[in-house]
Amino acid sequence: MSISVVILAAGQGTRMKSDTPKVLHKISGQAMLFYAIDAALEVSDDVTVVVYHQKERIIQEIQKNYKQTINFHIQDVANFPGTGGAMRDLSIKHKKVVILNGDMPLVTKDSIEALASGDGDINMSVIKLNNPSGYGRVAIKKGYVQEIIEEKDCNEAQKTIQSVNAGVYALKRKILESFIPKLTNDNAQKEYYLTDIIKMAVSKGKTINPVYVKEEEFKGVNSKLDLANAEIIMQNRIKEALMHKGVIMRLPHTIYIDSRATFEGEVILENGVSIEGKSHIGSSHIKTNSVVEESILINSTIGPMARIRPQSYLIDTHIGNFVEVKKSTLKGVKAGHLSYLGDSTIDEGTNIGAGVITCNYDGKNKYETVIGKNVFVGSDTQLIAPLIIEDDVLIGAGSTITQNISKGELAISRAPLKRVQNFFYKFFHQKQTS
Ligand code: UD1
Ligand code: CA
Repeated sequence: MSISVVILAAGQGTRMKSDTPKVLHKISGQAMLFYAIDAALEVSDDVTVVVYHQKERIIQEIQKNYKQTINFHIQDVANFPGTGGAMRDLSIKHKKVVILNGDMPLVTKDSIEALASGDGDINMSVIKLNNPSGYGRVAIKKGYVQEIIEEKDCNEAQKTIQSVNAGVYALKRKILESFIPKLTNDNAQKEYYLTDIIKMAVSKGKTINPVYVKEEEFKGVNSKLDLANAEIIMQNRIKEALMHKGVIMRLPHTIYIDSRATFEGEVILENGVSIEGKSHIGSSHIKTNSVVEESILINSTIGPMARIRPQSYLIDTHIGNFVEVKKSTLKGVKAGHLSYLGDSTIDEGTNIGAGVITCNYDGKNKYETVIGKNVFVGSDTQLIAPLIIEDDVLIGAGSTITQNISKGELAISRAPLKRVQNFFYKFFHQKQTS
């Protein structure tokens, strides 16, 4: 299907009460606008995003995240505010156009295609709502749309109409070319309403088909409450799809998964797990309340209560409770308890004892720790980076390692142990019992 897609994203989003542009607020790790762009790119090679408020920021975010060509159109908001103004002077490649709102992250490719394949001159999305407030009302006669009346322009009778404009349209380019230049701002908000092209088209004998769509997909995100509700729906979608693919989830409603995370093989996620960023999890078991951020885990067990921070790569590794790993590559490693492993590379067969810390930061710079194969790092060791520990090394518990250690060595640093008989009783002026 050859269609162009226009995504409206120039509005201020005042109801969001935020300095961040509305369409850049995130849902499951991604700006909500990106879901609209993703769906658009699936059906079209001509995607235009209309911007104005904080346009530099929005354009920059899009260019940072997409290799594909995306066209930008800067709306002349000073002279032509409103969704109709947004559609002025656009260059559109194909004869058929789909218009999406940037604040509808839940719309799917299938729904866009269903709208685009309708046979009206305009096919417009309609939802039936018990509480239609906030939306433009759709007047329908004999199965065809007659007009859309914005809430602020409705009389009392019109306010009771429960069919509302969901804000997505598929229409012929010609219709836009004929009617957009004729729009006026003669309404309560003094804006150029895209929705006014409906009654203009009707007066010229065009057919406007209402396409009833799912409320869940087409609800616009206008406030932080809407944002939270959209997040719930998006999370359910992501998790359902992954469970169908074979991921096991214990109490899925307690689990959070970024929409960009990928999974492979048999993965078990226990309750309270959070998978953030573009993580990849292959055949691993992630236990209760662990957090994985933008990392790769292959054939490993993590947690409970572990934190794997960005740029970590763990393969055939066991990470136990209260272990934090950051920007490290661990291959065939065991770190069972209470450690911080940062900026490190650790090789096969190495055991990291409880409480081992890589001291990677001197207050100014970060330094690396490299540990070879089959190293036994005793509990409560501090590894002062930069540091290289070669293969087959034994480090005694409680050591502070400040020099590179060569293959096969024992390294131990301990203050000598002092013992003073009966010191306790003298110090506390207590009598010694038996
Ligand atoms: C719009 C529709 C309303 C529909 C509702 C569905 C109009 C006049 N009204 O109202 O019938 O029920 O969507 O969610 O179209 N935008 C621009 N430029 C502007 C103004 C807005 O690009 O000058 C963009 C916004 O960034 C947003 C989209 O258009 O992505 C919709 O704008 P919004 O202000 O949310 O419209 P609603 O009042 O919700
Ligand atoms: Ca809206």
